[in-house]
Amino acid sequence: MRNFTYHNPTRIVFGKETIAQLTSLVPAGTSVMLTYGGGSIKRNGVYDQVRRALLGHSVVEFGGIEPNPQYETLMRAVGRARETHIDFLLAVGGGSVLDGTKFIAAAIPFTGSDAWDIVAHNAPLLSAMPMGGVLTLPATGSEMNPSAVISRDSTQQKFAFGNDLLYPVFAVLDPLTTYSLPRNQIANGIVDAFVHVLEQYMTYPVNAPLQDRQAEAILITLVEETPNIVKDPPDYDGRAALMWCATQALNGLIACGVPTDWATHMIGHELTALYGIDHGQSLAVVMPAVMRFMADQKHAKLLQYAGRVWGINQGSEEARVNAAIDMTAQFFRSVGVPTKLSDYGISSEAGQRISERFAQRGTLLGEHNTIGASETQAILALCS
Ligand code: NZQ
Ligand code: ZN
Repeated sequence: MRNFTYHNPTRIVFGKETIAQLTSLVPAGTSVMLTYGGGSIKRNGVYDQVRRALLGHSVVEFGGIEPNPQYETLMRAVGRARETHIDFLLAVGGGSVLDGTKFIAAAIPFTGSDAWDIVAHNAPLLSAMPMGGVLTLPATGSEMNPSAVISRDSTQQKFAFGNDLLYPVFAVLDPLTTYSLPRNQIANGIVDAFVHVLEQYMTYPVNAPLQDRQAEAILITLVEETPNIVKDPPDYDGRAALMWCATQALNGLIACGVPTDWATHMIGHELTALYGIDHGQSLAVVMPAVMRFMADQKHAKLLQYAGRVWGINQGSEEARVNAAIDMTAQFFRSVGVPTKLSDYGISSEAGQRISERFAQRGTLLGEHNTIGASETQAILALCS
């Protein structure tokens, strides 16, 4: 097992009707900016619950943060927060609202000449505004991690950045808020959480047995609970299981002491930036292809995954590995997320475009940094 430091300061408040606890979670006497997305929170009653809990606080609102949050929109929020002397941010929504709010938190006190440097160059931060979150879409893990992914339409860029100053102070996770989610967003959430685990597990063994079992526990729970998660009308325990799985999938715990990959995410972000597909959709396309392309390097973990997660213990090693990859893609399709570029109307030129971008940036991905421009093109050729 590799050396590691683990510190996660985010307080999680989990369960039914917990939004009322914002009254005491949001520090008294602060001037709060309430950030949200395109209006789902107004339609499903979450907004009313939040406003009720904040009756004793001074609140400024900033709505309209879009999926794959846009730099230009967020800079408007930064301007507004500076003008109104905000000292606490409360993000209410999915990963995009949380991520966008992390950027706002970083950019408000930023003194550099160009706030885009925070995203594009992970510019050092001296401070950040404190923020809390109310999560309404279990998927990204943003509620309990210090990372954010920000997009810029004008340049078709989508980059991740992170800073320890950006852990939310608290996150309220009420599974009831997920009842209004459309089926495709639930499916995206299942895929995103599943792939987060795979990116931290599907590498090579380093004698980290607990981390392996923790990762497998999340994967198996997601597979077993999927029938409950997608039930209509919604099933509370199924939604609660998804919510906690998604948080645990990317709060740093399972990454302790192990190598990580993230090639699927980095290639997926390019697909979203260039072709506009959802984050979860991009992962469902790329993950099986990365496993196939890297099957030799990932052989030992793929075999372990085949046996422990999918119960595939018969046949040659190669056959078990292939069956596990097929089961993964089949699982994504079974929840309604297609796994081929052509399913989204994306032609094979995507491989060329993305590999050119990676060549220009000198991008090297994967647990061994062996996935460069030409390997990315080969991976995307497997997705057509
Ligand atoms: O904008 P509103 O009206 O709120 O609607 C949203 C949005 O249209 C809707 N929604 C959210 N909660 C709802 C709801 N609709 C009905 N009922 C509810 N309870 O769902 C749509 C998608 O929301 P979004 O926040 O974009 O989805 P998600 O949570 O999947 O976030 C995706 C973003 O997170 C980034 C992705 O790249 C993408 O930009 N990621 C962030 C990560 C992180 N911070 O660690 C890691 C991830 O790998 C990911 O890259
Ligand atoms: Zn993700």
